[in-house]
Amino acid sequence: MKILITENEELASQKAASLLKQAVVEKPNAILGLATGGTMLSVYERLIGMYRLGGFSFENIMSFNLDEYVGVAEEHHASYRHYMNSNLFDHIDIQIKNTHLPNGNELNVEQNAKKYEKKIQGSSGIDLILLGIGKNGHIGFNEPTSSLASRTRVKTLTQSTRNQNLKYFDKIEDVPKYAVTMGLQTILDAKKCLLVATGAAKAQAVAKMVEGGVSASCPASILQHHEKTTIIIDKAAASKLKLLDYYENVHPNGEEVYF
Ligand code: F6R
Repeated sequence: MKILITENEELASQKAASLLKQAVVEKPNAILGLATGGTMLSVYERLIGMYRLGGFSFENIMSFNLDEYVGVAEEHHASYRHYMNSNLFDHIDIQIKNTHLPNGNELNVEQNAKKYEKKIQGSSGIDLILLGIGKNGHIGFNEPTSSLASRTRVKTLTQSTRNQNLKYFDKIEDVPKYAVTMGLQTILDAKKCLLVATGAAKAQAVAKMVEGGVSASCPASILQHHEKTTIIIDKAAASKLKLLDYYENVHPNGEEVYF
């Protein structure tokens, strides 16, 4: 794992956006795995800023999002399709037909989840997958105890995840109980992983992911098995890491150092 620690949230978002831009510049027909959530808002804002400065295009980029709620219509303001369109896709030249999210709004949701997995497997593979982390260590909606070998499927959300996402709905009864999510093995299949975490509320989960044992009780810890994972965290999210000095020594100010 490459651990890049930045002074603050802004610099973490800036760094993540730069790495996404780099992936697009290096491979203009790259396949990106994308995440939603509060952390990614400033990452996407910065990526849009970079795009507006010119010099690169998303025209031939394809994307697969990690997850979508079950039973929330695409047009609903809290759907992840709505989030992606309004926070990223509407502001760049990506072709909407090349953007994919799991379909959580049909009766045969399990079957659609399998189709989504097949579609990913039928592509040339995700070049870079962007990930956030939940306070409970989830990535995508792979809640604790998710199989480390899991593929895209329906998952029941924990009460803590539902409480965290209450801010996007009017009341707790409206927060979905289920979501379709890429599995942990689907995520591991990506050629590169890029996880971003900011704020003290994520410190515990980050410490378990980076320095704990690989365990389904912290699904993000599976990234220890991925050869090319970069973790971008601000100082607050890094505050519970035991080897903090070491990471800061290897990558001063969160800069990538090449030998
Ligand atoms: C969302 C997703 C989730 C979030 C995680 C962190 O597509 O995959 O795993 O990345 O819940 O969410 P925030 O950034 O809102 O703390």
